[in-house]
Amino acid sequence: MTQDEMKAAAAAAAIEYVEVGMIVGIGTGSTANHFIDQLAKIKHKIDATVASSVASEERLKGHGITVLDLNTAGALSLYVDGADESNKSLHLIKGGGGALTREKIVAAASEKFVCIADESKLVDVMGSFPLPVEVIPMAQSYIGREIVKMGGTPVLREGFITDNGNVIIDVHNLSITDAVKMEADFNRLAGVVTVGLFAERPADVLILGTPNGAVTV
Ligand code: 5RP
Repeated sequence: MTQDEMKAAAAAAAIEYVEVGMIVGIGTGSTANHFIDQLAKIKHKIDATVASSVASEERLKGHGITVLDLNTAGALSLYVDGADESNKSLHLIKGGGGALTREKIVAAASEKFVCIADESKLVDVMGSFPLPVEVIPMAQSYIGREIVKMGGTPVLREGFITDNGNVIIDVHNLSITDAVKMEADFNRLAGVVTVGLFAERPADVLILGTPNGAVTV
């Protein structure tokens, strides 16, 4: 089974969590895209969706699925999204696609967060995947220096501007043994909009696509 087929298997399994009349929060990325395509098959069952990126919004609308603004939708019962890495506590690194801020907002507003990924995303210690940090442009150099003090290597994501008009610094060479503390440490830096660590609000369920099908962690 290819990595993409494993992503599709995890996405298909997440459909089990969708109930009649729900407004479903939708993540961003290739695994979330598989979920959107599966959701299209049962679109009559749900009321609407809230998208975490312009790209996901366009894909949902392409399937004829209603997309609401989060302020209109109110609290959500379910959020389904992918991840770049997860540990066994279901702390996540997200933001490989640059949508981390909206993803964190929609996850925070949702009662249940179902994370879908292929099995390669589950790791013992996070940090091999560079940690994305969305930053207000004028703070980029200051935050870069602070990241060096924290032991990381900051690399500006060249030519990339987020849906919110900010830049992304990808932090290499971190070994994230205390994700809750590291998330708080980044959140204390002036100019950080969002760090792509989802530890204070981790996933509630992790569905991994494996060569033998989907497995729930
Ligand atoms: C986007 C994300 C994605 O969930 C993450 O990058 C995983 O992407 P993919 O499903 O394509 O592997 O956080 O900001």
